[in-house]
Amino acid sequence: MRERIAIIGRNGRLGAALCRELAIHYEVLPLGREEVDLRRPIEPQMKDIGFELLINAAAATNVDWCESHQEEANLINGEAVAALAELCAIRRVRMLHIGTDYVFDGSATAPYEESDLANPISVYGSSKLIGEQSLLRASDQHLAIRVSWVFGPDKASFLDFMLHRAQFESEVCAVADKFSAPTYTHDFCEWIRPLLFDLPAGGVMHLCNDQGCSWQEYAQCGIDTARRLGWNLKCTIVKPIALNSMSQFVAKRPVYTVLSTKRFFQMTGIHPRKWDEAVDEYVRAKLSAGS
Ligand SMILES: NC(=O)c1ccc[n+]([C@@H]2O[C@H](COP(=O)([O-])OP(=O)(O)OC[C@H]3O[C@@H](n4cnc5c(N)ncnc54)[C@H](OP(=O)(O)O)[C@@H]3O)[C@@H](O)[C@H]2O)c1
Repeated sequence: MRERIAIIGRNGRLGAALCRELAIHYEVLPLGREEVDLRRPIEPQMKDIGFELLINAAAATNVDWCESHQEEANLINGEAVAALAELCAIRRVRMLHIGTDYVFDGSATAPYEESDLANPISVYGSSKLIGEQSLLRASDQHLAIRVSWVFGPDKASFLDFMLHRAQFESEVCAVADKFSAPTYTHDFCEWIRPLLFDLPAGGVMHLCNDQGCSWQEYAQCGIDTARRLGWNLKCTIVKPIALNSMSQFVAKRPVYTVLSTKRFFQMTGIHPRKWDEAVDEYVRAKLSAGS
């Protein structure tokens, strides 16, 4: 019999990929906000839903929206996670919860390890930290997996917006002094498989593609691949701009949040491939799919 995994966030960028890719190996129960709304009391919504593992990939992810909706952000990213984690602990099943690099203040100069001090500088980051801490308080078997700059075919992200702009606009710019590591949803779905049942790690784990880059390098890499594949682009060079010129940002963004995946490697023996290889594969797949 295949294990039953409930996944909250079935319409999200990462949640949709998890639902589709894990369904090849497990019985997956995809849950959207229609089934489980994280703003409403959790227990009554979950009472008839059975599973051997819960993955929460849902969250209030708009960093600027969170900044002006603190109460709701804390409810969705914090209190709801606590309620889910407690419910799972009572049922003696593990919960995997998706966390973020935005729990860090970005003042580091080398990749962050799980033991580094979290010190969020935005409401989004602090609401996600509340969720993580509540998760770990509920059970030491639960696992918070922090990711960064998620991209994949299920929902447009920064990379898709940049590719779209390069097709239709003569100038494309991106921030060159903020650094993180892209996370390809397809890779993530492969990486987490051993962590589901075979190596049931608890605590916090960082998981993203290898090595860091700026937003500008990330966009340039995608555009370079598209150009090599013969896309008709109006712009082929991404102009660097400074983070402090982004006057439309409401929330503060951490400058450097590259995550170290050393713990993941020690546990599984898997070394995530470098981010530019993943971007290249994604852009090729996007072209083949005609999107
Ligand atoms: N995207 C990134 O670059 C990034 C970076 C670091 C960490 N993360 C973390 O990775 C996880 C997945 O991110 P993502 O990029 O897949 O986000 P996403 O595409 O914005 O998806 C978030 C999902 O959460 C659902 N959701 C929001 N409010 C809800 C509520 N009240 N009740 C139930 N569901 C609700 C949304 O449902 P609807 O579709 O119905 O709105 C959506 O399906 C999140 O935990 C995020 O914090 C993401």
